[in-house]
Amino acid sequence: MEVIIRSDGVAIATIVADTISSLLTRKPDAVLGLATGSSPLAVYDELARRYEGGRLSFSRARAFMLDEYVGLAAEHPERYRNVIEKEIVSRVDFAPDAVQGPDGLAEDLPAACAAYEQAIIDAGGVDLQLLGIGTDGHIAFNEPGSSLASRTRIKTLTEQTRADNARFFDDIEQVPRHCLTQGLATIMSAKHLVLVATGRGKAEAIHRMAEGGVSAMWPASILQHHPHVSVLVDDAAASRLQLAGYYRQTYASKPEWQGL
Ligand code: F6R
Repeated sequence: MEVIIRSDGVAIATIVADTISSLLTRKPDAVLGLATGSSPLAVYDELARRYEGGRLSFSRARAFMLDEYVGLAAEHPERYRNVIEKEIVSRVDFAPDAVQGPDGLAEDLPAACAAYEQAIIDAGGVDLQLLGIGTDGHIAFNEPGSSLASRTRIKTLTEQTRADNARFFDDIEQVPRHCLTQGLATIMSAKHLVLVATGRGKAEAIHRMAEGGVSAMWPASILQHHPHVSVLVDDAAASRLQLAGYYRQTYASKPEWQGL
């Protein structure tokens, strides 16, 4: 796991956008994994800027979302399908239907989860998965206690996650209690995982993920078992890292050709 500490979200977004750009140059039909929430927004802004400047195209790429609330109406602005449409898909040139998410409105939710797993496999797997992290250490919506071998399924959100996400709704009562989420094993199947986190609120989760024991209590800690993980954090999110000095030193002497 490579941990990169930068001063702010904009510096992080530049590095992540460089990585996605170089993937799409190498492999224009790459499969991207998209996260929702605040963490990737600066990355999406930077990707949209590069697309507008003619420096980047998603025309042959495909993408899979990490998760979706169960039961939010199709037109609800906080439905993740609509959020991802607004934040990135409508701003670049993905082909119609190139971006898929789990169907939180399906009548048969387990069947929808199984179909989603199959769709990812049929696409050849995810090349680069963008991730945020919850204050309780969740990735996608794999809350504490999630099976480290889990696949896409229905999960119950913790009260902490519902409280964290209440800022997107009028009040906490409107935050759904259930979601469909890629499992930890689904995420671990992606070839390259890129996790971004900013702010002091994420510091404990980042420390547990990178430096704690691997445990379902801190689901993101499973990433310690992945061979290619890049973690990009700002100074505040890095503030509990024991090896911060080493990570800074390593990045300062990182060879230019290496990329993430
Ligand atoms: C969203 C997702 C979640 C978020 C996490 C952090 O698709 O998978 O794991 O990444 O809840 O959310 P923010 O970025 O809003 O702090």
